[in-house]
Amino acid sequence: MCGIIAYSGHREAYPVIIKGLKRLEYRGYDSAGVAIFNQDLQVYKKKGRVSDLDAYAQGQDLHGTVGIGHTRWATHGEPNDVNAHPHYSQSKNIVLIHNGIIENYASIKQDLLNKGYSFHSETDSEVLVNFIEDVQQNVGCSLVEAVRLALQKVVGAYAIVIISKDNPGQMIAARKGSPLVIGIGEREFFVASDATPIIEYTNEVVYLDDQELAVIEDGELHIKSLDSIEKTPYIHKLDLELDAIEKGGFEHFMLKEIFEQPKSVSDSMRGRINSTEGTLLLGGLIEYINRLVSADRIIILGCGTSWHAGLVAEYIFEELARVPVEVEYASEFRYRNPIIRENDVVIAISQSGETADTLAAIELAKSKGAIIFGVCNVVGASIPRVTHAGAYIHAGPEIGVASTKAFTGQLSILMMMALMIAHRKGTITESRYRKLLVELEQIPAKIEQCLALNAQTQYIAEVFKDVRNFLYLGRGYNFPVALEGALKLKEISYIHAEGYPAAEMKHGPIALIDEEMPVVFIAPHDSSYEKIVSNIQEVKARKGRVIAIVNEGDTVIKNLVDFSIEIPYTSEELTPLLSVIPLQLLAYHIAVMRGCDVDRPRNLAKSVTVE
Ligand code: F6R
Repeated sequence: MCGIIAYSGHREAYPVIIKGLKRLEYRGYDSAGVAIFNQDLQVYKKKGRVSDLDAYAQGQDLHGTVGIGHTRWATHGEPNDVNAHPHYSQSKNIVLIHNGIIENYASIKQDLLNKGYSFHSETDSEVLVNFIEDVQQNVGCSLVEAVRLALQKVVGAYAIVIISKDNPGQMIAARKGSPLVIGIGEREFFVASDATPIIEYTNEVVYLDDQELAVIEDGELHIKSLDSIEKTPYIHKLDLELDAIEKGGFEHFMLKEIFEQPKSVSDSMRGRINSTEGTLLLGGLIEYINRLVSADRIIILGCGTSWHAGLVAEYIFEELARVPVEVEYASEFRYRNPIIRENDVVIAISQSGETADTLAAIELAKSKGAIIFGVCNVVGASIPRVTHAGAYIHAGPEIGVASTKAFTGQLSILMMMALMIAHRKGTITESRYRKLLVELEQIPAKIEQCLALNAQTQYIAEVFKDVRNFLYLGRGYNFPVALEGALKLKEISYIHAEGYPAAEMKHGPIALIDEEMPVVFIAPHDSSYEKIVSNIQEVKARKGRVIAIVNEGDTVIKNLVDFSIEIPYTSEELTPLLSVIPLQLLAYHIAVMRGCDVDRPRNLAKSVTVE
């Protein structure tokens, strides 16, 4: 959570920072602030969006070529001007921006209070900046050394950037558990939570590692560990186009990202699949392929939408690769004492690669000896750096807070993994393997056909935009899609929505059905078709209003329901890649019609780096 951007170089810092904060706003958007150094440290901060901060800062003295900026997702203290970052130290000599949580802040704060410090905000971050100042005063050391010593005492997660009045040309950054990227330009440096605010200036970046401290001074970057061991910065070349992080004519990032799916799914398969030759290779897995093939059990970890992708994978892996699969909420797994055996393998799914619960679950599984595979989108993020092997989904930046193209990218990778294992294990026939490769290659074109349903979905959205509740039902591979459809709707439109396996309806949710209750059935012509037809009849008999996702040419369900949306045929295992598209569109249009801020839904943020 929270977005960080800092600049030190020859340009005016403020415009770089404000633009960067707008790009990072998806990470948090309850307040924002900047600090600029120009003979003195000037701090401007405001509750609300980055645009509110910008409006407030206009007319103030914003000159200066060194500055830091922050967009916040509140953890300690409500969103208001005072709790917004940056935070001054008591002497106003140091300012700090922070992403993460300092878990032992209360005891540090008490010590500082005993020493006469006072605090203006309720944040753990203000405690940290004062702690650093206190260490510097007590030890009588440089600011860099004080930061290093203070961070050795801190428990929790942080990405911080600090500038100070006494060392005007110096910028200090450090991380543990929250991401930081340093962009290296011509006589200029950028420090940010991710590469999106950096890419238009430079494609050369250094990813800071956990427990590392970076010092930018006199046009040079020095990195050392918190144990004072000097590190040589490893410069990565970013493969990211500016177009990928702009809206490109779409009203919202979410809509753009929904419409990008033919390309993003195709990119997930590029160079990996060749149906003509019958080849499939996820290069990142090769080294550990024998572990995957001989696994007694696969444990899948994820949160939210990534967990839903894991549920689809459970059906696919068990069906094709005949290996038992357990899908776990990372946030639950990590607090249990899970049983991991020698021959288990773990697959961790995460779009951002930064989700704190998933990271902690991975560490736990690793400590018990498991081999971990990552399925991530953000290149260089924390999860791909701690897993043994994995595959990127190559969906490109996902900026809309609601996950869309990452879900289909994850499904595509998980399907390829299952096929790779199944083929090597011999648990599927050559002809079924070949057929699925062909079907998979055709998915991008079929997603394109689903996107042509946009206008129809918009029409249906108009009918249902004012309801208070929604039920989503599906069976088999499409049960997780029901969960995902419900999640998309509730998170961006604030309509209460539940997803259920359609067969579970009779065990409780059927009591909710009346003429007020819209029910979305995901009902392609698959092995549970007859059963789901019965479920639809049960809802209609109780006057429920039904929207059904069906296959092209379906007449049976079409005649039963109020609205039907026809998607192309594909193999049963692959239908989630298509059936989710109209559900994404439905949620999007309903949210827009209700006047919701689709890309920045309330209370949410894109990467959940808090626990
Ligand atoms: C829903 C959504 C969240 C994320 C979840 C996990 O639209 O975006 O539920 O799926 O926070 O995030 P990642 O995949 O980044 O670990």
